[in-house]
Amino acid sequence: MELKRGVTFSDIKQRLDAVGQSHLLRFHEDLDAASQRGLLDQIAGIELERLPRLVEQYVKRKQAFAIPSDLEPAPCYARDAKTWNRADYRKKGEDLLRAGKIAAFTVAGGQGTRLGFDGPKGTFFGTAITKKPLFRCLAEWILAAQKRFGTIIPWYVMTSPLNHAETVAFFQHHGYFGLSERDVMFFSQGVLPSLDMATGNLLLAEKGMVATNPDGHGGSLRALWTSGAIDDMMRRGVEHLSYVQIDNPLARVIDPVFIGLHASAPDSSAEMSSKMVAKTDPGEKVGVFCRASGKVQVIEYSDLPRDKTEERNATGRLRFNAGSIAIHLISVDFVARLNAGDELSLPLHRAEKKVPYVDSSTGQTIQPPMANAVKLEAFVFDALPLCRSSIVYETDRIDEFAPIKNADGNDSPATCRDTQTERAARWLEAIGVSVPRKPDGKADCVIEVSPTTAWEADDLRNVSLPKSIERGAELAL
Ligand code: UTP
Repeated sequence: MELKRGVTFSDIKQRLDAVGQSHLLRFHEDLDAASQRGLLDQIAGIELERLPRLVEQYVKRKQAFAIPSDLEPAPCYARDAKTWNRADYRKKGEDLLRAGKIAAFTVAGGQGTRLGFDGPKGTFFGTAITKKPLFRCLAEWILAAQKRFGTIIPWYVMTSPLNHAETVAFFQHHGYFGLSERDVMFFSQGVLPSLDMATGNLLLAEKGMVATNPDGHGGSLRALWTSGAIDDMMRRGVEHLSYVQIDNPLARVIDPVFIGLHASAPDSSAEMSSKMVAKTDPGEKVGVFCRASGKVQVIEYSDLPRDKTEERNATGRLRFNAGSIAIHLISVDFVARLNAGDELSLPLHRAEKKVPYVDSSTGQTIQPPMANAVKLEAFVFDALPLCRSSIVYETDRIDEFAPIKNADGNDSPATCRDTQTERAARWLEAIGVSVPRKPDGKADCVIEVSPTTAWEADDLRNVSLPKSIERGAELAL
């Protein structure tokens, strides 16, 4: 939200009146001068004129998703690489890394409400034994890649106005996790106002502050531009961004094969590419890569009709099985193109949530017992159909997808820990180390491997290891 200096009370009042939102000024007179200024600046940064349409579209009606009639599964570069040459693409990716053309990009502006952790999610622990924070898990990938390829990989970290200061302070406190301070850039994404679910009204979080939420990971495509991050990349000669989310400590932050495919596969426009894993079952709640009118797109699990979700091909595999794991490569030129000329506008997605608010008749702060507001967010994968042509690359779930979304159950610290151990166990077994397993096949120990030690099984050959791991052992490599 941009601050516009010099706005007057009457300007703002007039604009609010025009869209029926003048209750936001109800407590203006009770505020001190600085808070009055802050409130007016905040309101000035909201696109008020767009509100009636948003309310109509997302609050009064829950817009139904129209399934394209020619919807088909998106083609993928399969893991077994029978039809493409993995070694060639790896080499191409490595060349781009050595030439300094690749930056890492992490979106870390989310609110992490499901996890219920008080603080930026990147400060939450991501490994089971050493309890490394998620930011460190990703930083170690970057450190390892810099060393491996003798290069600098700048890291762009998107925060939100709600967690920016705390995030930067965390990096400072931890010495940027061994990275060079000048190669780590932070910028804040935009926010959108949260809307009262019953009326569509804007809400006051405090008497002098409108309730807002970060504008979604899709907001990154604009924030990269408005923050000057894209300019910085152009100055450095960076051509592609490796996009990962903060909540997946297994993500291969830098993956030469994927970079090579994105940049040079014949059917890639090298604008935006994606990774997928095969869905575990029809009900798994992940978006699915599809294609319609020749364009790759992600359809959210809730939007894909049941018959399509459950449809299987002759081999019994789900036909629409390409689950999105929110890992992309995005070219700097693509982001620049989207932002140049016409305003970049991605569709918005609605979520219902509990938002504390100031009651405009009593001035009391209300803690709602259930969802009372609509939060609108843009999703980064909605930029895929804007590419001239986009590719999807299949990867192994155990190898790189264990997000921490919830405090327990699915996608929790416990499942993430199990996946990290399973990945490490497979690597150890691949080089001949025996790993104890329980009757259900799960490893009977806890193992974590830093990417600075190994990022695939073969790297462990250079590490001094026992012939077998003891049952119940904890091993941090
Ligand atoms: P999620 O969709 O899981 O959202 O974000 P969240 O806000 O972290 O968690 P919940 O839904 O409140 O429980 C996926 C990734 O996108 C980032 C998050 O930080 C995470 O890395 N994100 C999400 C942003 O950077 N900005 C946003 O506005 C939303």
